[in-house]
Amino acid sequence: MLNMGYGQFSFLLFVCFCQFSFSSSIPHLCRKDQSSALLKFKKTLTVDPSLVLCNFYYYTSSWNMSIDCCSWDGVICDEMTGYVIELDLSCNSLVGKIDSISSLFQLSHLERLDLSENNFSSSHISPEFGKFSSLTHLDLSWADFSGQIPSEISHLSKLQSLVLSTSYSTVQRLAAHDFRLLLQNLTLLRVLDLTGVSISSTIPLNFSSHFTMLVLEQSELYGVIPESIFHLPKLKMLDLSSNYQLSGYFPKTKWNSSASLIHLNLLGVNISGNLPESLGYLTSLNTLFLALCNIWGPIPESLSNLTHIEYLFLAGNFLNGTIPSSIFSLPSLTNLELSNNHFSGQLEDIKSNSLLSIDLGYNQLQGHLPKSIQNLVNVTNLDLSFNNFSGSVDVSFFLDLKHLSSLGLSYNSISFTNENKVNFTLPESLVYLHHFQSLETIDLRSNSLQGSLPIPPNTTRFFFISENNLSGEIPSSICNLTSLGMLDLARNNLKGAILQCLGNISSLRVLDMHHNSLTGTLPTTFRFGSSLRSLNLHGNKLEGKVPQSLSNYKELQVLDLGHNHLNDTFPMWLGTLPKLQVLSLRSNELHGSIRTPMIENIFPNLRMLDLSSNAFTENLPTGLFQHLKSMRTIDQTMNAPRYEGADGYYQDSVAVVSKGFECEIVRILYLYTVIDLSSNKFGGQIPSIMGELIAVHILNISHNGLKGHIPPSLGSLSLVESLDLSSNHLVGEIPAQFASLTSLEVFNLSYNHLEGCIPQGNQFQTFENNSYEGNDGLCGLPLSKGCGNDSVSETNDTVSGLDDEESNSEFLNDFWKGALMGYGSGLCIGLSIIYFMISTGKPMWLARIIVELEHKIMMGRRKKQRRQRNYRKRNNQL
Ligand SMILES: *[C@@H]1O[C@H](CO)[C@@H](O)[C@H](O)[C@H]1NC(C)=O
Ligand SMILES: *[C@@H]1O[C@H](CO)[C@@H](O)[C@H](O)[C@H]1NC(C)=O
Ligand SMILES: *[C@@H]1O[C@H](CO)[C@@H](O)[C@H](O)[C@H]1NC(C)=O
Ligand SMILES: *[C@@H]1O[C@H](CO)[C@@H](O)[C@H](O)[C@H]1NC(C)=O
Ligand SMILES: *[C@@H]1O[C@H](CO)[C@@H](O)[C@H](O)[C@H]1NC(C)=O
Ligand SMILES: *[C@@H]1O[C@H](CO)[C@@H](O)[C@H](O)[C@H]1NC(C)=O
Ligand SMILES: *[C@@H]1O[C@H](CO)[C@@H](O)[C@H](O)[C@H]1NC(C)=O
Ligand SMILES: *[C@@H]1O[C@H](CO)[C@@H](O)[C@H](O)[C@H]1NC(C)=O
Ligand SMILES: *[C@@H]1O[C@H](CO)[C@@H](O)[C@H](O)[C@H]1NC(C)=O
Ligand SMILES: *[C@@H]1O[C@H](CO)[C@@H](O)[C@H](O)[C@H]1NC(C)=O
Repeated sequence: MLNMGYGQFSFLLFVCFCQFSFSSSIPHLCRKDQSSALLKFKKTLTVDPSLVLCNFYYYTSSWNMSIDCCSWDGVICDEMTGYVIELDLSCNSLVGKIDSISSLFQLSHLERLDLSENNFSSSHISPEFGKFSSLTHLDLSWADFSGQIPSEISHLSKLQSLVLSTSYSTVQRLAAHDFRLLLQNLTLLRVLDLTGVSISSTIPLNFSSHFTMLVLEQSELYGVIPESIFHLPKLKMLDLSSNYQLSGYFPKTKWNSSASLIHLNLLGVNISGNLPESLGYLTSLNTLFLALCNIWGPIPESLSNLTHIEYLFLAGNFLNGTIPSSIFSLPSLTNLELSNNHFSGQLEDIKSNSLLSIDLGYNQLQGHLPKSIQNLVNVTNLDLSFNNFSGSVDVSFFLDLKHLSSLGLSYNSISFTNENKVNFTLPESLVYLHHFQSLETIDLRSNSLQGSLPIPPNTTRFFFISENNLSGEIPSSICNLTSLGMLDLARNNLKGAILQCLGNISSLRVLDMHHNSLTGTLPTTFRFGSSLRSLNLHGNKLEGKVPQSLSNYKELQVLDLGHNHLNDTFPMWLGTLPKLQVLSLRSNELHGSIRTPMIENIFPNLRMLDLSSNAFTENLPTGLFQHLKSMRTIDQTMNAPRYEGADGYYQDSVAVVSKGFECEIVRILYLYTVIDLSSNKFGGQIPSIMGELIAVHILNISHNGLKGHIPPSLGSLSLVESLDLSSNHLVGEIPAQFASLTSLEVFNLSYNHLEGCIPQGNQFQTFENNSYEGNDGLCGLPLSKGCGNDSVSETNDTVSGLDDEESNSEFLNDFWKGALMGYGSGLCIGLSIIYFMISTGKPMWLARIIVELEHKIMMGRRKKQRRQRNYRKRNNQL
């Protein structure tokens, strides 16, 4: 990398040198009107050094009246006329707006205009751009333009290349409502990239046959892909990915007749079918991304024709059968991504000299690991986790894979042996782990490992060894792992106190030791590194108080100390943690009343508050409810807890009681807003201010001593899916406003002293008797005691069969949509989400891989763009 960067640098110097010596010898051809237009344009913009700069200096800094404007950087003139015909200011850290009176539009002879990768402050693209009648190339991508693309762009009848790609997350993203017109009028177009632009239409049938590159990623396209696209004779790159409403099918016959297609990305497009043999005709393919396309059946043998393919992504489909060994011998293949399919059978020998990354995780592969894996000496990523591999593997098996930086073997039935040594205890295998000098990620989850905790090499950044049978105390030598970012020791039998020396690991962001047998107190002086984002000690035997030192971790997002023996009052001081999203203190011995001091903005980001099964007394914390900003606003932007690197390996999890059963929520925390104050000794009335917590999905205040009426304001909780007020002393009627709670799936008012009619309509037909039992005064359906005015038809009761599974999947659907919307916000990139409910055992892997894949693709694309840009620059400059 470094060498390459240096190479480019010297190349540029060389170019500059040429330009200077050249400029002194050419005639003075700059036209005055052109140079003054350029200078005026420069004046309307500022340079923001904090923006990424792709060149080594700002082009505009060379714009100086004493030099011929045709020699200015980024400017090229027609040698005959002196008019500026090319202006390239891409990635020059420019900030400002280009309005319709901008002097830019005086450069009316422009043929190529590139303003990409600057910051035009969400301004609209002026209709004046339509007056550049000579324009052949226009690039305004990643430049923070917003609003509608003016229809005047379709006047640019000479346009060959139009690149307007933009970030999907921009609040006022670009929209192209006259997409059809654009294609109709721009008949010379060869390159069109509208990534992230909201097109919101079907794809028109007629395309210019000149197209070489068509990129409409994340453009909200819907309908069916016209087959004619696949037959465009010169097409090199087709990217319709992340249009989740789009469907399509592959031509069965020979397509793309000149086999020009190099890059095909249909990620997320619904193909609903097999991979056709005809893919084998695309002999120039370098990249094939068909992840999440709803394709099934076997991998066709014809894929072995794709001798130029480097990237093959078929993850997240329903492909089955065995993985043909010919895939592994594709001579150019470097990245093979087949995870999350239904591949079964034995894994055949992997004979490849090109593969660098192999992901076969989440399939049903079985049998022994093929010996040939040992020969993959160049592989950096190997993921075989979540399969049915069995047999014993000697710890020396992976010894020759010197470049391995990530190895996933978890969730198989592999037992590790050590045939060369007598002892097979884990510390023995350490010797071998130490051979992986560059191993950064060690994933040994769920492997029936016994003995004491093995300590990996000190280069390890991510160490996951949860769900094993490790016992004994945690060796203090773990504190030598000073590069550690994530440590996941959950679900073992580890004993002893929490090591104070863990505080020496300043890079530690995630510490997960939930469900062990750790004892002792958390000393008030306890110190972790200041990067700590997630601390999960749920389900141990910790005593004493919640250490006040936790208020130092300003990055803390997730704190789960539930199911311990902590004896304290409510740690209100945690409210000063600005990023805290999840706080679970359930099932401890916390007590006293919860009083809220007069401080601004307590728990501003909290989305999950679980204080259930403690001994809190007096009134519900009205003062606290006045804060909790995140629970009072329905926020679409979704700030997920986020950890750089190793995403996909670690997910925050927290146990909540939802919809009547306990489930574990993994990495979805940010979508799921929960207040659980159940099983305490709260008294008094339910404060009506609780109705302002409108973002809440789960509200549980059952099993307390609450009195009085149910406040009608609770009818404003429009998102609430689970509402449990059972086992209190509530009186009066059920507020009629509850009939409007259409999201409600679990509703429990049992064991109170409620009376009167049960509201009817909407969701209310779906609740059964047990929602109301133990309230002698209630009447109306579903109870047999009538209210005298029952008018609800019996036939509508059939919906009450809505079972848990179905309602879960509804939730998941919403979640899925949410995850997709959230992606692209920048924040969610690199984030991975697994959501699964332990009780149903259903993995929700789709969202995880989509985000992972998009990330990988994005990174590849960024690199490519940069390469292309450098290439373009050189061409322009020479
Ligand atoms: C313009 O360029 C000349 C010669 O390179 C230099 O002396 C002068 O300072 C420059 N002026 C500005 C405003 O940059
Ligand atoms: C299409 O192009 C023609 C010729 O350049 C132009 O006259 C017409 O206005 C364009 N139509 C639209 C709607 O832009
Ligand atoms: C595979 O390539 C060969 C030539 O290399 C060609 O004859 C054959 O038709 C191709 N098969 C498919 C299914 O594309
Ligand atoms: C693959 O799945 C299809 C159904 O989608 C099934 O008919 C077929 O038997 C499966 N093949 C194998 C090898 O499992
Ligand atoms: C490993 O990489 C080297 C250098 O790129 C190459 O010569 C060799 O064939 C590769 N070996 C394998 C097994 O991939
Ligand atoms: C095997 O373990 C014992 C103690 O458990 C130790 O003394 C011995 O050195 C170990 N053998 C080898 C070969 O490491
Ligand atoms: C790892 O340990 C070695 C000595 O065993 C030491 O030289 C090296 O600096 C350590 N690296 C880190 C990142 O702590
Ligand atoms: C690792 O930790 C142990 C115990 O804390 C200590 O004795 C040892 O010197 C450390 N080793 C290195 C290489 O830092
Ligand atoms: C909590 O600690 C206090 C003393 O600090 C003690 O009196 C009380 O019994 C403890 N509560 C429980 C449930 O252990
Ligand atoms: C069932 O309820 C829906 C609205 O919830 C209503 O539109 C429909 O007419 C009802 N069906 C019968 C048979 O009453």
